[in-house]
Amino acid sequence: MADVRLVRASKSFGTTEVLRDVDLDIADGEFIVFVGPSGCGKSTLLRVIAGLEGLTRGEVSIGGRTVNDVAPADRGIAMVFQSYALYPHMSVRENLAFGLKLQRLPRAEIDAAVEAAAATLDIGHLLDRKPKQLSGGQRQRVAIGRAIVRKPQVFLFDEPLSNLDAALRVRMRYEFAGLHKTLGTTMIYVTHDQVEAMTLADRIVVLSAGRVEQVGTPAELYAHPDTIFVAGFIGSPKMNLLPATLLANTAGGAVVRLAGGAEIRTNINASLAPGAAMTLGIRPEHFIRDGEANRVETVVRFVESLGSAHFGYLDLAGLEEPLTCALAERPAIGSIITVSLPPEHLYLFDANGSALARPRSASARDAA
Ligand SMILES: Nc1ncnc2c1ncn2[C@@H]1O[C@H](COP(=O)(O)OP(=O)(O)OP(=O)(O)O)[C@@H](O)[C@H]1O
Ligand SMILES: [Mg+2]
Repeated sequence: MADVRLVRASKSFGTTEVLRDVDLDIADGEFIVFVGPSGCGKSTLLRVIAGLEGLTRGEVSIGGRTVNDVAPADRGIAMVFQSYALYPHMSVRENLAFGLKLQRLPRAEIDAAVEAAAATLDIGHLLDRKPKQLSGGQRQRVAIGRAIVRKPQVFLFDEPLSNLDAALRVRMRYEFAGLHKTLGTTMIYVTHDQVEAMTLADRIVVLSAGRVEQVGTPAELYAHPDTIFVAGFIGSPKMNLLPATLLANTAGGAVVRLAGGAEIRTNINASLAPGAAMTLGIRPEHFIRDGEANRVETVVRFVESLGSAHFGYLDLAGLEEPLTCALAERPAIGSIITVSLPPEHLYLFDANGSALARPRSASARDAA
């Protein structure tokens, strides 16, 4: 097991800078998830840690040792790709054993490692099959098994579940959590999936255009995003971000006016001059139908129903985009409904997209 440290890690392909001054300290045994828009550098960062890409500038260390000049095979890491990359002509047993055979380990030791990995992943009954005789989920398990037998100090996973169907993803998500618990090994995991990031991560690293935007626990990023980018990126459906103007900063917090004229009271202190342009944020799950504070009247434009949950898209006079609002009951299209924006669930951002600090008590409530 080992910690992983990046210091001012930068990577260019030709004249394009893909990673810029990435500083990151990953603790021994931590489960870290990289998220960010397509092309932001997640896979490149993983490949830099693996040694599949060199750095243009900066340093990578694993277990306290600088590995910039260490070959991938000698870094004590194992990487699992989205494509699995199994050897099609080899049986599952041979796929699992292959890396160990290259290391010229004794036969008995290889057999024991293969049996142990197969038991951990529940693929013992598949050892004599070829990859093409396996389902997608089983192939994925073999790919993970091939990483486990090498007893790496750090696991690197690049979107390992993205080829699986929804039900299998959920099942494999539990298995990843269990695997991390059993092995206790440092894991670095790239995903596009919000739920995977929120449920698996000890800490999430949000990347944007090759830079680290914010690092924190899922609860911290959800309740206290540093920027409008992180606020919009963490959470699904996405946070509503509404153009607003600062009216006054009262003892209880800032009062803002939305484009359509609605006055919204927050509990956030905004030490800015009245008239300042702001963005007000509220997550879809935090509206209260017919609530008390900050009531606004809306018209239902359309509704998405997921069985038990309904997402209403609600037109509020003066706003171009409808509000996305989680509702317990399905409203009729075109009906008028009143929703409240509870002050303790609001977010404020200044004109630069930086978040104004929210009261810390809010985090406990949001995380609950
Ligand atoms: N070998 C390469 N040569 C040139 N440019 C590259 C190379 N590899 C990646 N890039 C560029 O680097 C940027 C980051 O790519 P990367 O694959 O790390 O993104 P990503 O965050 O993993 O995206 P996705 O979510 O789509 O997988 C992209 O703009 C990509 O086009
Ligand atoms: Mg990628």
